[in-house]
Amino acid sequence: MITQNGMFITLEGIDGAGKSTHLAWLTQHLQQRYAEVVVSREPGGTPLGEELRHLLLACPMHRETEALLMFAARREHLEQVILPAMRRGACVISDRFVDASYAYQCGGRGLNTDKMKALENWAIQNFQPDLTLLFDVPIAVAQRRLAANREPDRFEREEHGFFDRVRNTYLERAASFPHRIRVINAERPISIIQEELEKTLSSL
Ligand code: ADP
Ligand code: TYD
Repeated sequence: MITQNGMFITLEGIDGAGKSTHLAWLTQHLQQRYAEVVVSREPGGTPLGEELRHLLLACPMHRETEALLMFAARREHLEQVILPAMRRGACVISDRFVDASYAYQCGGRGLNTDKMKALENWAIQNFQPDLTLLFDVPIAVAQRRLAANREPDRFEREEHGFFDRVRNTYLERAASFPHRIRVINAERPISIIQEELEKTLSSL
């Protein structure tokens, strides 16, 4: 896929790791370096994707249906938002992308990894971010943070073992793709994490 000179950055991690917290700071920081910064999220990012998000976060469904809907939303997101922005030379930052499907649908739900690879190949032609920031925290810390904050959705209501598998799958992917995925210890104070993010971005 021809993207010219844009940049695609994704944020990943278990629910409660701090992605949303760091998104605003990262956006401001990137605006100093790029004329255009596009902030988006998955599932979502387009009107159709947001409709699918609503279903995915609320309705019980078979794990393969879940994977297919995630990729239906992703295909639309890529076509309508990510690729056009990158062709304009913009920096696109997305709260989650394909690593979340491996972590949640394969790790968490037990979906066969070969099916996921086939889906990734078919639906998005293996399109990958330039940089993925993986916010990593122990499950207990993430759950404490979430409990203090909001009404849980269908994923956030899962048990400890589910998030353990999700976290491990994320860490395995980080080990498999060390040049793309940067693991951030997100248990530390926000200001310390921001210092590390600043260094990571300036080394790009
Ligand atoms: P996510 O988007 O990954 O689900 P959030 O950014 O919404 O997580 O963070 C969940 C809660 O944890 C928020 O109340 C946020 O203020 C808090 N939080 C995030 N990062 C930290 C941190 N490093 N230290 C303490 N609290 C944090
Ligand atoms: P997120 O936007 O991080 O939730 P919140 O706004 O509550 O922080 O993501 C919504 C949920 O969707 C999250 O629990 C993870 C899940 N998800 C998957 O299971 N697979 C995927 O491919 C994606 C993108 C998200």
